[in-house]
Amino acid sequence: MSKKYNVVLVGIGAVGAEMLKVIHQRDFPVSELKILARSTREEEIDGRTYQVRAAAVEELDGADFVFFAGTEGSKGASATYAPPAIERGAVAIDNGADFRLDPEVPLVIPEVNPEDLKNHKGLIASPNCSTIQMLTAVAPLYRESRVQRIIASTYQAVSGTGRAAIAELDRQARQVLAGEEDVKCEEYPYRIAFNVLPQIGGFKEFGFTTEEWKMDRETRKMLHDDSIKTVCTAVRVPVFNGHAESVYIETEKPISVERAREIFSAAPGVVLIDEPEAGRYPMPLDASGQDPVFVGRIRRDPYVENGLHLWIVADNIRKGAALNVVQIAEKMIADGLI
Ligand SMILES: NC(=O)c1ccc[n+]([C@@H]2O[C@H](COP(=O)([O-])OP(=O)(O)OC[C@H]3O[C@@H](n4cnc5c(N)ncnc54)[C@H](OP(=O)(O)O)[C@@H]3O)[C@@H](O)[C@H]2O)c1
Repeated sequence: MSKKYNVVLVGIGAVGAEMLKVIHQRDFPVSELKILARSTREEEIDGRTYQVRAAAVEELDGADFVFFAGTEGSKGASATYAPPAIERGAVAIDNGADFRLDPEVPLVIPEVNPEDLKNHKGLIASPNCSTIQMLTAVAPLYRESRVQRIIASTYQAVSGTGRAAIAELDRQARQVLAGEEDVKCEEYPYRIAFNVLPQIGGFKEFGFTTEEWKMDRETRKMLHDDSIKTVCTAVRVPVFNGHAESVYIETEKPISVERAREIFSAAPGVVLIDEPEAGRYPMPLDASGQDPVFVGRIRRDPYVENGLHLWIVADNIRKGAALNVVQIAEKMIADGLI
């Protein structure tokens, strides 16, 4: 009989709930599954009832894998529980940003840099959702001809902020349509319903936000190439789920549109939908609930011979978080790294 693993899931918000679905759908080899959050309770997800326990260090005893889908920061779930999980011999895989740029921690998209897993020291980080979908698509082009520069604009769904933000868009949209004027904003500084917010995270160097810098730093780390220059404008849009990205790349040697289509057709985790004349291109409504990263609207830049424009869409909760974490664990099992 093939081996099964004791799994602890920390956090059962938007990402944690999706992780449970992914674990069942992919038949991940679970022996015992424990769910931890801030309070003890029952939660119903996808027609199943789960016991949730209040997080505590002792709850990590006996775990093989600990998947983190909690909050970030010095008092967050992974900062608090990843070190004791590793001490107990578990492999921790974190969705959050706390450890992504730590040189001791592999940052991995299984379709892009699975080889980095072999250097793990108990903790692996899953990249930011926007970076995951961009790089799953861009890495196969990079292998054809080195990508020198990326200019991206993101259209990010509220599910990227978590459960409370999904509820906020729903509530605000109903209130606005009912003609109510006093619409409360709790998750975002401004109303998100029927609006677009050009800020995700705090403002940092050169006026770019933390979210925008993540795309640059995480891309360099995973491609092992510090010369690649990524700039981004990250925008929150009133979409429940599924991030879209307009991505412009410049490669060392020109890649034709036809060749790019061939590359995407063969790329793992990528689905090409590029028939603009027939009105076929990727959209968040179609991508939501799906595993792949969808690419379309491939165009050569009319003014830059080595410039290509792409439209990249994926389910940010799924490939951008939950699925990527489970795929990392599956790859570690397959490669005998646990
Ligand atoms: N949403 C995305 O698209 C996305 C993509 C990539 C990465 N991520 C990252 O994934 C993580 C989870 O995001 P989310 O969107 O699922 O957030 P969320 O909907 O707000 O859920 C957070 C969950 O974490 C639990 N939690 C918070 N602090 C905790 C602690 N100290 N100990 C144990 N559990 C704790 C909460 O418990 P209670 O339920 O008891 O409050 C809740 O279940 C974050 O680090 C986020 O940055 C999210």
